Amino acid sequence: MNYYLWTIGCQMNMADSRRAAEALQRLGYRPVDRPQEADLILLNTCVVRQSAEDKVTGRLTSLAGLKRRKPGVKLALMGCYVGDIPALQRRYPWVDAFIKPSDIPAVLSLAQSTNSQFTNSQSTNFSTTNLPITVGVPISQGCDHRCTYCIVRLRRGPEISRPVDEIVAEIRELAAQGVKEVTLLGQNVDSYGHDLPAPAPDLADLLMAVHDVEGLLRIRFLTSHPADMTDRLIETAARLPRVCEHIEIPVQAGDDAVLRRMGRGYTVAQFRDLVARVRAAMPEVGLATDVIVGFPGETAAQFEATYRLLEELRFDMVHVAAYSPRPGTPAARLPDDVPPEEKERRRRAIDALQERIVGEINAQLRGRTVEILVEGRHKGKWRGRTRTNKLVFFPVGEEDWTGRLAPVRIVKTGPWSMQGEVQEP
Ligand code: SAM
Ligand code: F3S
Repeated sequence: MNYYLWTIGCQMNMADSRRAAEALQRLGYRPVDRPQEADLILLNTCVVRQSAEDKVTGRLTSLAGLKRRKPGVKLALMGCYVGDIPALQRRYPWVDAFIKPSDIPAVLSLAQSTNSQFTNSQSTNFSTTNLPITVGVPISQGCDHRCTYCIVRLRRGPEISRPVDEIVAEIRELAAQGVKEVTLLGQNVDSYGHDLPAPAPDLADLLMAVHDVEGLLRIRFLTSHPADMTDRLIETAARLPRVCEHIEIPVQAGDDAVLRRMGRGYTVAQFRDLVARVRAAMPEVGLATDVIVGFPGETAAQFEATYRLLEELRFDMVHVAAYSPRPGTPAARLPDDVPPEEKERRRRAIDALQERIVGEINAQLRGRTVEILVEGRHKGKWRGRTRTNKLVFFPVGEEDWTGRLAPVRIVKTGPWSMQGEVQEP
């Protein structure tokens, strides 16, 4: 039995797909690169912006023909596209199953029912997935915030944290299979645990528990929410040697009125103060953020304020998106009054600013030796990341660096990646 898996969207979706693939392979399924060769097709979807949704509908339409020619193939749709299931069933009658985001058990039961319809010649073969060096591990599902533009919380529901023991057991298993770095994932990892029974653990407790897992070299976590990031978390992340100096903390806008309309729950001054506290605890931190431009009612002056804030705070990475109205969200009732070409102009302005800033930040690394966790080979070079999440390449020599920490002297820098030479210890 073969499966074809297509994934778009956030790191959470990537992690869900990894878990789905592992589960399928345990049942004896093998991955294929083309849907035409599959017995089971799984699309793991995203609807965070209209552009993502369009990719999903395009994919679904093109697979209708394949389903007509091969009705025995099972087609399943998973992820944030799956909202109103009866409506989806009417619109896409050729889809066999609609699976809520992260519902891996539902993927398994579909696979088992598919499997039993065929002679189960391969179903007893146990094949392990080839795990990458670094993997994402979901620690919570859903989100309790009410950002007015966000459809994800509507699709993923309220926040549900996984117990510490369950997460640690999964990570122990991953480390035993050779994984060296985990990224703890959630829509808002900073509120991790608040829904668990008393004495409820928080993310700092979880970091300490994961830190003890043998064989693990690095730990990251994302995404943080500015209103929920505590000093205890900052202090714990700074203190634990395996926790990387890499914080993703979306600001979304640099103007208080826009932040209020977005329902973000903090002011620009509070965000600035938080960044200062993070930088005081971790002077070398790599900071990433998200920004939405062209939110309803965003004036030229309000956009300017966002631009100036990014200029002042100098992030290592800015994910910038043009606002896209999402059905069912409170913001979708506001007039989408920034014209598309103006949204695009604002998006490009921030991209250009960011390219300059990160180029300057990275240039300061030239001549310095940094620790790279090597993830594998890429176009004849070793490829890996710094603790601050910067991509570094260095030439292949005698040694196999896969999954090891390499001391690399940076010789060439650019905004998106750097080149270096391994230093003999
Ligand atoms: N939980 C995170 C947070 O605190 O913001 C991120 C969740 S969201 C799924 C990921 C990013 O997509 C957001 O940070 C935001 O910048 C962007 N995004 C979400 N909804 C959007 C929309 N309607 N239009 C444009 N970008 C959007
Ligand atoms: Fe969405 Fe805001 Fe939560 S962006 S996922 S409601 S923190």
